[in-house]
Amino acid sequence: MKTDVLLGLQWGDEGKGKVVDYLTPGYDIITRFQGGPNAGHTIEFDGKKFVLHTIPSGIFNKNTINIIGNGVIIDPYIIDTEINQLQQAGIDVFSKLFISEKAHLILPTHRLLDAVYETAKGKQKIGSTLKGIGPTYTDKASRNGLRVGDISRFDFMEKYEAAKKRHLMLAANYNKNIENIRIEGLSFSEYETLWIEKLETFRKFTKIDSAYFLNKALDSGKKVLTEGAQGTMLDIDFGSYPFITSSNTTAAGACCGLGLSPSKIGKVYGIFKAYCTRVGSGPFPTELFGSEGVFLREQGHEFGATTGRPRRCGWLDLPALKYAIMLNGVTDLMLMKVDVLNNFDSIKVAVKYRINGVETEELPFDMTTTDIEPLFVELPGWKQSLSGIHHYNDLPKTLKDYISFIENKVNVNIRMVSTGPDRLESIFRS
Ligand code: GDP
Ligand code: IMO
Ligand code: MG
Repeated sequence: MKTDVLLGLQWGDEGKGKVVDYLTPGYDIITRFQGGPNAGHTIEFDGKKFVLHTIPSGIFNKNTINIIGNGVIIDPYIIDTEINQLQQAGIDVFSKLFISEKAHLILPTHRLLDAVYETAKGKQKIGSTLKGIGPTYTDKASRNGLRVGDISRFDFMEKYEAAKKRHLMLAANYNKNIENIRIEGLSFSEYETLWIEKLETFRKFTKIDSAYFLNKALDSGKKVLTEGAQGTMLDIDFGSYPFITSSNTTAAGACCGLGLSPSKIGKVYGIFKAYCTRVGSGPFPTELFGSEGVFLREQGHEFGATTGRPRRCGWLDLPALKYAIMLNGVTDLMLMKVDVLNNFDSIKVAVKYRINGVETEELPFDMTTTDIEPLFVELPGWKQSLSGIHHYNDLPKTLKDYISFIENKVNVNIRMVSTGPDRLESIFRS
């Protein structure tokens, strides 16, 4: 067997959580392979709403095992809040969630460093979620990180103190008033005390080597789905650098983040919204600044699931989408949030860019400093509610034309159309 991969093709928040949860009954195992609590994946069913940050979105199915792979970074404090939320809903997290011993830990001082680095960037700030993502992956790459498997070692606290000392020295170089920085609304020492307490949570988890576990599972015929976090345009190599996150969000990242070879990747589900959003700073060629952008944000309830920040909104960007499809080898597309466009008379789609007077469908080396003019095609809107529609053929013709337009441009079929946040508002095409 091979693992299917489901990932975002834009700047994150495409609706990955909703679709993973929907597809979960067809799989034995759901995994996460990169990122950390910068992610916010929303799942809605039976009138209930959950937001997951670290835990895979398969956790709501009683028969499915969930795995946090080695490529993920974990904050004991945040995962503990997720576990509490799930336990209150009657979900037995510890029997269904296994964690790689090789996943790195986000320390309280990583969060402190994230805050001082962002402040020091001034106008050039990334707009990070401030969950310590950049500093934790930096320590991983510079061979200074602490891993989940280290927690049970006799010298863990010694190593923790050494890392903390190093981080505090670094932070003090940037900011003389680090004692004023608050984490989760707490002072550093209050937060650190809780963080250390929450390390206990890890003792209750089954810790695994995700490479052996998943390869054996696939060999024995288990069905595995891998859930991406963030989106392709935030990939550390292929996103709009430096306005990116610190991991490979693309399909190749699934191999390194779990311990699977490229030949073990099956279908690649690419998820995108019928428009674009971005939260944080950085280039966004099709961004809408006026009342249309505000209307789109209101219609789509576009506010961050992790930080609550308003998301920037704009039209669908086909050059960026084609780039993402190419990088990920997408086999099946999933079009999300079409209902958000119900009240638009017409819908614009960027089909090309004009850069220095030349038309192109390719993204430039540096999207940040290059002046990109998107060239739009305008299509008619469908101007009707989609609620109650459960079959593709019953969708309005104008919406089906819009879907065909995208398919013809990107040469990949759209297999699923999402018409609302609930699990059941999902239309599959055979
Ligand atoms: P993720 O990070 O990719 O899992 O996405 P988020 O959860 O951050 O953001 C997606 C938001 O859109 C959530 O509030 C979802 O409940 C919501 N959502 C998902 N699919 C749809 C849809 O088809 N229509 C509408 N209106 N909302 C949706
Ligand atoms: P999900 O999985 C949207 C953005 C941040 C910031 C940049 C770097 O819910 O789609 P970081 O905290 O990684 O240092 O932030 O990346 N970002 C996201 N935007 N959805 C996400 O995750 C994101 N995770 C990070 O806003 O611009
Ligand atoms: Mg999100």
